[in-house]
Order: sequence, then structure tokens, then C-alpha cells
Amino acid sequence: MTNSNQNLASTAQDGGPENPDRRSLLAAAAVGAAAAAGPAVLGATSASAQSSDSAGDRRELSGKVAFITGGARGIGLASAEELAKAGADIVLFDIATPNVPHVQYPLSSEADLQSAKTSVEALGARCLGIKGDVRDRAALDSAMQQAVDNFGSLDIVVVNAGVSQAGAIRDFSADEVSTVYEINVAGAIKTTQAAARIMVPQNSGRMIFISSALGRMGNELFPVYASTKWAMIGFAKSAAVTYGKSNILCNVVAPGLVDTPLANNSVILGKMMPDAANPSFDAMVEGAVAGSTLNVAHLEPIDVAKAVLFFAGDSTSKVAGEVFDVSYGSLSRTIA
Ligand SMILES: NC(=O)c1ccc[n+]([C@@H]2O[C@H](COP(=O)([O-])OP(=O)(O)OC[C@H]3O[C@@H](n4cnc5c(N)ncnc54)[C@H](O)[C@@H]3O)[C@@H](O)[C@H]2O)c1
Repeated sequence: MTNSNQNLASTAQDGGPENPDRRSLLAAAAVGAAAAAGPAVLGATSASAQSSDSAGDRRELSGKVAFITGGARGIGLASAEELAKAGADIVLFDIATPNVPHVQYPLSSEADLQSAKTSVEALGARCLGIKGDVRDRAALDSAMQQAVDNFGSLDIVVVNAGVSQAGAIRDFSADEVSTVYEINVAGAIKTTQAAARIMVPQNSGRMIFISSALGRMGNELFPVYASTKWAMIGFAKSAAVTYGKSNILCNVVAPGLVDTPLANNSVILGKMMPDAANPSFDAMVEGAVAGSTLNVAHLEPIDVAKAVLFFAGDSTSKVAGEVFDVSYGSLSRTIA
């Protein structure tokens, strides 16, 4: 990172009045850095890309830079879009590899990542799509540095990448257990470490961890996955304590069932509805509505993204270590 970029970063952080010189410098830095970024960056920022922070268009997150793991689809993409609408520039970091050993269903493709980047840019934000694995600390360090080099700072990290896994406790192989722990737990820890390397010297930041309602209760169909989501909450609270004095606020969103490929895929649905001839997400949700607190029994990704935006914005500037259940009332019957 150059000195001029460091200066630009602090100007953006301060949310000061728009400076056209700063904007053209940032654009030049973006083009230069993108050109040097190598093949992992999909469709790097073009010279004509417009910042979401143009004069006369100041929004809550104008001048902020958000980095989203697992951003190619689902909750990650919806969060990126909400943050972009609020004015942030976006870095999408995703494994973009459908077939990952010991994961039960396909993850995103490079085409998904490219399409997500296009959707975010259509909202007027600048966006990088970076292919990388949250199990790889060096890849996270490099991608976050690209965020700073291209856009000037790293203000918001959504610790979102994760994989589900269904089955009875007795059936999981050692490799399956390690894989879900390495992605959901160690991946979240590595993402936090990489973010803190930049946010601590910057003395500001928001980290938003996507846990699950299954991180708040036991579940016989998702026993290992649920334990990773409990672990995430414990870690996020520890991160909140560790980084609070550095003005880095760590909070958790714990969604109920969301209609994304993580839940809405034939393998997971087959295990959730073992007696159904043709298991479908709609049928499963329909069956759950009768016993639900509200008249809904699932979420859309945007419902979760709104909570992410809440923890990224001004409303929560004195909030850390909290867990926000977004679960259509499903936790109303549990103990506080
Ligand atoms: N869908 C639900 O019902 C639900 C409910 C509660 C919590 N969650 C959590 O929300 C988060 C997002 O899930 P989603 O529902 O959007 O799923 P999704 O499968 O649609 O999206 C997850 C994204 O993460 C990426 N990813 C997976 N492993 C990765 C890795 N090692 N490195 C980088 N990227 C990786 C995938 O390619 C995919 O694009 C997960 O942490 C999940 O546990 C989901």
C-alpha cells in the first residue's frame, strides 16, 4: 500500500466532504492495482467504474469498503447488495469451486462470482470478485490488501462463508467433520485475523459474523454443523472483547432457515424429508408454517442482509458482542 493510499483511506474513514482529486486518485489506484492483481481477480475494476461515493450522493456507508466472504450467492451476495445500496464499495471473496471434497452439495462457480460482481456494480458500487478459500490465510491477507489497494480502506467484513452438513452423529467421517470445522470455524477465525491486521492500525471497523439459529440450540439432523455455529458465536464474542478498544465492533447475525442453495439442495432436502417422494424446499416450509410463531417459516437472503446492514451502520456504533436472531420468531419458545 502506498502512502497516498493510506492518506486516502483516512479521508474516507472520516467521511469528509467529497474531494474530486481524491476520487480521481482512488480511481487511478484502483486501475493500477487491479491490473497488477493477477488471475484470482475476476473482471477487475475497469477505468470507467464509478464509485458509489460520487458528489451529491452521500449515503450512510459512502466511502466505506466492505469485504464479504462467500459473497458469490445467497446471504453473502444479498448482504453485498444491501451494503452497496448504502454506498459501500464491495469485495466479494468466494471459493467459486462447485465440487469441494467432503462437502455434500455444490458450492458457487466462477460464473456465479462474476454474475454477483455484475449485480453489485449495477447498484453503482465498485466491486472486486476474488476467488479464494477462507481456509487459506494467505489468500485472505492478499484479498484484503487488494481491497485496501483498490478502494483505500477495509471498514466492514462480513464473516459469512460456510457450508452445511446434514446427517446423524454416527455417520460423519473424520474428513467430513474436519472440513466443516475448517471452513465454518477456522475459516471465520482466519478471516478475523486477516481483517484485524488492517483494522487495528486503522483503529476502526465492523465485523459481522453469520452464525445460525442452529448455533442457539441442539439439532439431531445438523449436529456437527450446529456445533460450528455455536463455536462461531463464542469466537465472535471473544473477538468483540479483543478488538473493542481498537474501535472494531464485532456482532453476530443468527438466521433461521433461508432459501439459498445451502438449504435448498437435493442432498440436504432429502435428509430433512426422508419420507417424501420428491422433497422440495416449498413443501418443507409449508409443513413448518403451522407450528411457527409467525405465518412464515423461512427467510429470503435479503431478510438477513438487512440485519447485516444494521450492524454495519450508524445505528449500532455502540454495540458489540451481540447476537441478533433473525428467525421469524422461531426462538420465541427458547430460554433467554
Ligand atoms: N441458508 C440457511 O438456511 C442458513 C441459515 C443460517 C445460517 N446460514 C449461514 O449463512 C452463511 C451463508 O450461507 P448461504 O445460505 O448463503 O449459503 P450458500 O451456499 O448459498 O452461500 C455460501 C457461499 O460461501 C461460499 N463458500 C463456501 N465455502 C467457502 C470457502 N471455504 N471459502 C470461500 N467461500 C466459500 C460458497 O461458494 C457460497 O458462494 C453460512 O455461514 C451459513 O452457515 C445459512
